[in-house]
This record gives sequence, C-alpha cells and structure tokens, in this order.
Amino acid sequence: MPVAPHISDFMASSSFIRKMFEEGMQLKQQYGADKVFDFSIGNPDLEPPAKINEMLRELGESHESRLHAYMPNAGYPETRKAMAEKVSGEQGVEIPFTHIVMGCGAAGAMNSVLKAILSPGDEVLVSAPYFVEYGQYVRNHGGTLVTVPAREDFSLDIAAIGAALNGKTAAIIINSPNNPTGKIYSSDEMEQLGKTLEAHRATCGRTVMIISDEPYREITYNGKTVSPIFPWWKDTVVVSSFAKNLSLPGERIGYTAICPDAENSLELAEAVAYTTRILGFVNAPATFQRIVAACWKESVDYSVYEKRREILMEILDAAGIPFLTPEGAFYLFCRVPERKHTTGEAGDDAAFCDHLKKYRILAVPGRGFGKAGWIRLAYCISERSIALSRDAFIQAGSAW
Ligand SMILES: Cc1ncc(COP(=O)(O)O)c(C=O)c1O
Repeated sequence: MPVAPHISDFMASSSFIRKMFEEGMQLKQQYGADKVFDFSIGNPDLEPPAKINEMLRELGESHESRLHAYMPNAGYPETRKAMAEKVSGEQGVEIPFTHIVMGCGAAGAMNSVLKAILSPGDEVLVSAPYFVEYGQYVRNHGGTLVTVPAREDFSLDIAAIGAALNGKTAAIIINSPNNPTGKIYSSDEMEQLGKTLEAHRATCGRTVMIISDEPYREITYNGKTVSPIFPWWKDTVVVSSFAKNLSLPGERIGYTAICPDAENSLELAEAVAYTTRILGFVNAPATFQRIVAACWKESVDYSVYEKRREILMEILDAAGIPFLTPEGAFYLFCRVPERKHTTGEAGDDAAFCDHLKKYRILAVPGRGFGKAGWIRLAYCISERSIALSRDAFIQAGSAW
C-alpha cells in the first residue's frame, strides 16, 4: 500500500534528529561508545526517582481488580486532583480537577488540544526557534504553523507577535524553558503578551489561546523559576508531562490543564477529553497515572545537568564556539563559528554539523528548529562523555 505523498515528503524533511540518533548508534558500533559524543537527542539519561520503581513493584503485586481497565477519557479523578494541585501551585490560580485531562505525554496532550480548537485554515503562532514537532502537530489538525522570529537574545518579540496576529490566528504556542535555546521567558514578557492578545481581541474580536508547553518547567539553573501565565491571560492551557523532570519519556504520561477563567473552560476540558478518545489515545496509561498521582513531588537531581552545562560551556569556550547560556532544560544553542580553514557559506549549520561528525560529535542543525546558523547540543549524556569530548571539540573548532 503506497504511503500518502504528503506523508513521504514530511518524513523526508522532518527526520533529521532521528537520523542523527541512528547515525550515532552506527558510529558507536564502529568506534566504541566512549569515542562517540552524541549530543543529538533530548532523551534524559538520569534514572527516575526510586519511588517510581517501588510503586511499579507494588502495583505488579497488587490484587486490586481492574487495575488495567478503561477509565473516563480524562483520567482517574485522583490523578486529575493531584495534577490540579500541582498546576494550581505553579500558576497561583485554583484549578478544579474538572479542568485537568490526562494525556499521552506533552505531545499527546498538545495534539488533543489542537484537535479540540482548530478549524480548517486556522493559524498557530510560535516564536522561532521552536521544538520542531509543532509544525507537524498543527498540520495534523488542519492548521498552519506561523513562525515569528525571536529577538536576538531569544526572548519573545512581542511587537512582531502582535503584527503576525490576524483573524485566522487561533493560538500561540510558548515553551519555557525553551527547546532548543534553554531560554526562560520573564513575567514581564508574559504580561506584555497578555496585553497584546487583549488588544487584538478588542480590534479583531477573536480570542487567541495561549498553549504553554512546559515539560522542562522544573529543570532550571541558578535558582531561576518559570513565571505563571494564567494571571496574565485567562485563555491559556498548559500542556506538560513527566518525560523530562522525572525521566519518564517512554511512559507517555502527561496532562492538559485549562485555566478555569478561560471562555467556556469546562466545555474545552470536555472537548480535550473527547479528542483524547477520538485520536485513539482513549486515555493516558493507567499504571503511570497512578504513579504520577503519588510521585509528582519527586525529582531527579537537576544539579547533575547544571554541572554538565558548566563543563560543556567551558569546552565550547575553549573550542571557540559561541553559545547562549541556557537558563533551563538541557540544551545548548550554539552559533556556527566563523570559518577560518574551510570554505563554503558562512553560518552553514548543516555543514558545521557534518564537520563535527568527522570528530564523532553529533549535533543537530538549527535550521530544523527554524533558526539556521545555529546548532543544538543536548547534554543529557554522561559527564564523562562530555569531558571526553573536549579534545574533539577543540580540534573541530580549530579546523573549521
Ligand atoms: C518542547 C517540547 N515539547 C514537547 C515535547 C514532547 O514531550 P513528551 O515526550 O512528554 O510528549 C518535547 C520533547 O522533547 C519537547 O522538547
């Protein structure tokens, strides 16, 4: 059976991170794992908190019946109550459990939200650079992703966002701490964004929803915290997961939290539960709903990422590769340095990644995140591997 041509095209253009991941596996087989420095994928390598395995064992030995049965599409009430407590604390707004819908990771949650709100021809704005999958998620539901370049320091360009809003804009996705830049948006940016959306509503009549994608909220450095958004814009939904903060990406457990003061907020929550069903997720995984209800206050030791960040920044400095200091998440976004010994287009991020590969360093070109001229390094690999990459980076930097 032939694959639909548009899917073939999208697959060809969107598979670069996975391609890099597969190339990394091949290189490791060829040269040995110690000699390949794989900064390509944001797959947390820290073990989840011990309590998670303890609960898994307990649940495995439990005689409770119907542990694996279907449940309401929105999830177990106890889990939704726990998530309501979590997000209420983060947003400073009391959220009833009726406004939580459990989802299959942040990605599943975002797809359920987009399915619930998009009509054909709608646009969704995002500040670039951005997590590459957003384009596919929006397209899944008949929408178009419109990118608005961030400011030079990767903060939101509020004026440019205001200029990009129009009658077709249904939503804006924000992601803080950001993948790929590690930027955390300030409370002031949130306030300005809210005011811009209010002005747009007053002139255009359409309410634009903020979708705040927050899987990295807990992973921050130097005591920084992520500001709430509900106080600045009521038509906001948070989508998040435990993929990154509890190192559970393969378990596909996340949630949507809808601001109770949003227009028709309860109807929206019911719609997200419905779209979770009709997208074929049906409900978020039962076992991990029980686990996160009990373990959401646990954490892994994020200071490990902070230390790796310091080591990698020192190496990049020594290699002459400029970067933006990340405030959160576990990505370093680096500018392609000036060429001294190679020829070709200045700032060619794909060529620079190919060059790094010769030194067995795997990085992802920024153009895949909507920002050519930059590359992304994911430092969720061991401190040892980062330290061992030093010579390779220095050689690669001086030969470029
Ligand atoms: C910004 C961002 N949003 C969403 C996701 C998807 O997260 P999940 O695995 O919880 O679906 C990722 C995964 O890397 C991400 O970086």
